[in-house]
Amino acid sequence: MSGTKKIAVLTGGGDCPGLNAVIRAVTKSAINVYGMEVIGFLDGFKGMVEKDYIPLTLETVSGIAHTGGTILGSSNRDNPFRYLTVEDEQEVFTDQSDRAIENMRELGIQGLIVIGGDGSLHIAQEFYEKGIKVVGVPKTIDNDLSATDVTFGFHTAVDTATEALDRLHTTAESHHRIMILEVMGRYAGWIALHAGMAGGADVILIPEIPYQVDRVVEQVKHRYEKGKKFSIIVVAEGAREVDGEMVVKQMVPQSHDPIRLGGAGEKLAQQLEKSAGMETRVTVLGHLQRGGAPIPYDRILSTRYGVAAVEAFARGAYGTMVSLRGSDIVAVPIIDAIEKLKNVDPDSDIVRAAKAVGMSFGD
Ligand code: F6P
Repeated sequence: MSGTKKIAVLTGGGDCPGLNAVIRAVTKSAINVYGMEVIGFLDGFKGMVEKDYIPLTLETVSGIAHTGGTILGSSNRDNPFRYLTVEDEQEVFTDQSDRAIENMRELGIQGLIVIGGDGSLHIAQEFYEKGIKVVGVPKTIDNDLSATDVTFGFHTAVDTATEALDRLHTTAESHHRIMILEVMGRYAGWIALHAGMAGGADVILIPEIPYQVDRVVEQVKHRYEKGKKFSIIVVAEGAREVDGEMVVKQMVPQSHDPIRLGGAGEKLAQQLEKSAGMETRVTVLGHLQRGGAPIPYDRILSTRYGVAAVEAFARGAYGTMVSLRGSDIVAVPIIDAIEKLKNVDPDSDIVRAAKAVGMSFGD
């Protein structure tokens, strides 16, 4: 083989606005700056196990920075270390990581760039510990990865949720109703907090601040008495009552985290109709937060992350994840990003600011 380095890139976990901009930046900078060859594994880690890939060239990645989704496909249920296989007509989980590594060797791939959130970066770390030269890129609308100020995709999700709140505002006011918007975010309240602040929500419920229904009722009634006969409530899917549990919608056994949350908004609506006696409607924003074009902020961040990931690989910073710290892109150990989820600090200035302008957290 020639001295040309060949790297692979994959997108793992739930998709997120900005994935294509990262793929484009990785490919273009690897080719333009370092003269590398690039391939993309299809459907996340599944493509690595099944040796399913496409060559990535300047042509393949042209004109995709502004598009949603991922040209490589993604999966949040295919983990090579616990891979669903059929043996003796039985479905069993087996370790296929050596098969994936052998595929990389056969394809002459020296490095792997994993664009993923918590689950995919855990797998990336396991491959690194098995000797693979891995660099991670922090992706998730949830913004719950430690060791980076922001993950790409988060601000686009906030934008979508804020637009939804703006739209709910006018219909809430017309009908004198309580409008509840349930947003994603898993065990972190970042989307709810940011969209709630931007969209002028009257109540913001997040997992980090367990709520009391009575406090929410107080806020709604207080507004009513002042002549504001409607209220806007944004509920993170992971929100829960004091001493209560998160509301689980579904289990996905093959997934790194099998729990799928959902239903917190509906639960609250029933409680409020009973206690506040006001007509209440629920909108679950769901995967609209993941689809569609990235906003300019995420296109730029994704491009910077993609270029920085190739740079990190070129200088031998394996086992790292590119990260935004202040206004700089740096590389941090992947392990620091996945050791613990990044949650909203209930005493942070953003929460205090929201409270100061009269928003309630139900506490
Ligand atoms: O992690 C991203 C995310 O969209 C979460 O906010 C949400 O809880 C989950 O993925 C939904 O996963 P799925 O696409 O499997 O329904």
